[in-house]
Amino acid sequence: MNSSAMQHSSHCTTLRGTAYVRQTLCCNRRIRQGKRLLRGVVTLCAGKVLLEVKDLEAKVAETGNTILRGVNLTIREGETHAIMGTNGSGKSTLSKCLVGHPDYEITGGSVTYKGEDLLEMEPEERARAGIFMSFQSPVEIPGVSNSDFLRLAANARRKQRGEPELEPLEFYGFVMPKLAALKMNPDFLNRDVNANFSGGEKKRNEILQLSVLEADVAVLDEIDSGLDIDALRDVADAVNGLKRPDSATLMVTHYKRLLNYVVPEAVHIMEAGRIIYSGGLEVADILEKDGYEGIKTLIKKEAAAGREPVAA
Ligand SMILES: Nc1ncnc2c1ncn2[C@@H]1O[C@H](COP(=O)(O)OP(=O)(O)O)[C@@H](O)[C@H]1O
Ligand SMILES: [Mg+2]
Repeated sequence: MNSSAMQHSSHCTTLRGTAYVRQTLCCNRRIRQGKRLLRGVVTLCAGKVLLEVKDLEAKVAETGNTILRGVNLTIREGETHAIMGTNGSGKSTLSKCLVGHPDYEITGGSVTYKGEDLLEMEPEERARAGIFMSFQSPVEIPGVSNSDFLRLAANARRKQRGEPELEPLEFYGFVMPKLAALKMNPDFLNRDVNANFSGGEKKRNEILQLSVLEADVAVLDEIDSGLDIDALRDVADAVNGLKRPDSATLMVTHYKRLLNYVVPEAVHIMEAGRIIYSGGLEVADILEKDGYEGIKTLIKKEAAAGREPVAA
């Protein structure tokens, strides 16, 4: 990566989550339409489709390595989906492609969000339009206080929705109940974004951002990693508390324990850049019991029975 691209990338990562600051930092992403495979499309509720990913292909911009090789996923209002899969299968890449991370170039397929072409939208437009991603490894932003960061992000979203922006004092009134719901110490607001936060504190801070932004689609990448059991329960309760009938949650996780608290309607297994199997919570049970071999056996059985390998 050349130095300016690296700067773009690191800035973008550093400032991700704020709707307004990203606009000067991130690159345009354009896609070309790819062939449609139409595998793995999951239709669960009668709710309106919020996010529709079709045959999504993407490569690492710097190296040209293809990571996503035709991902299909349909998420409707009110639904919670989980993505599981071995390390390196492309879960984080998919998540980051949804928010327009400049490390990746979309090379095929489409993503529609609330009926609009998501891939035509700049990263900051996506954030303002209600897509939020919590990062697997949240970055520290020394010198920027959490309260300023959160207020600016919240105001960018409020402006988009035609709501009045919040002055610092008003914001305090807005954010305090959210902190209480998350069982977070109000001192969090005075600290620099994630600076010297423990792993668990960073994850809680991600959820605080989600709460403040009142996102419509929350993409949570390993929100459970590094959490002890009490913190996991708090974070899970907070995620559940933030769900609305018109919002949706996409969780990347390795562990069923998170799914016991935040119960998904669909569990997808990702491998080598594709969703190879989709089903209900039982998929996570099979994974826990028999590992990925158990899923492979299931796929073979379905194929032998003449069924499409993707269930649900
Ligand atoms: N920015 C990047 N630069 C280089 N390689 C990357 C980058 N992002 C992802 N990859 C590679 O893509 C593959 C999938 O990564 P990732 O999406 O992080 O997997 P997962 O989240 O499923 O563990 C891995 O081989 C990883 O090394
Ligand atoms: Mg990952």
